[in-house]
Amino acid sequence: MHSKTPEDIDEVLFRREEILTKIEALAEQINRDYAGKELTMVGILKGSVLFFSELVLRIKLPVRMDFMSISSYGQSSKSSGVVRILKDLDNGVENQHVLIVEDIVDTGLTLKYIIESLETRKPASVKVCALLDKPSRRLADVAADYLGFTIPDAFAVGYGLDYSEQYRNLPDICSLKPCIYQET
Ligand code: IMP
Repeated sequence: MHSKTPEDIDEVLFRREEILTKIEALAEQINRDYAGKELTMVGILKGSVLFFSELVLRIKLPVRMDFMSISSYGQSSKSSGVVRILKDLDNGVENQHVLIVEDIVDTGLTLKYIIESLETRKPASVKVCALLDKPSRRLADVAADYLGFTIPDAFAVGYGLDYSEQYRNLPDICSLKPCIYQET
């Protein structure tokens, strides 16, 4: 059993100040692109909560907020590709401009599932805003329309992202030491 201490951290990838500057830029872009429209922001629980909060505070449009919780069967550091909805949206999104707010796109299988699920509900549009992207591991043909940072194939924690439900409260985005998440 590993200790949940900063010794588990390999390196700091992005400090909080840098993350906030990036979120500012993303919000400006979203405000410009959706000018004159109403936006429905869909946060994917739980990894996106901090990102979602900082982003929505900077959106200057009429905004609805809703949340989904998705589980992939399998281990905490791996995507199995089998996805199920643990908590669905509270409200319908018919004719609404939906912006999915996700913490990280890894294989892309989760995002593909979410996009397909939302598209069946007849929204006016569906786009994706992701804080992190790990393109080296992509299996599904999906991409974020608005992206914070691209990272190499490391396991990222902090600023909402977890490993086995730990580290979400770290203020910076850090990489975890491989010995913590790699199978022996
Ligand atoms: P995907 O289906 O492989 O794209 O996985 C998406 C989900 O896996 C994300 O929403 C995260 O919850 C989780 N995930 C993937 N990579 C990481 C990581 O590096 N750190 C924390 N969570 C991750």
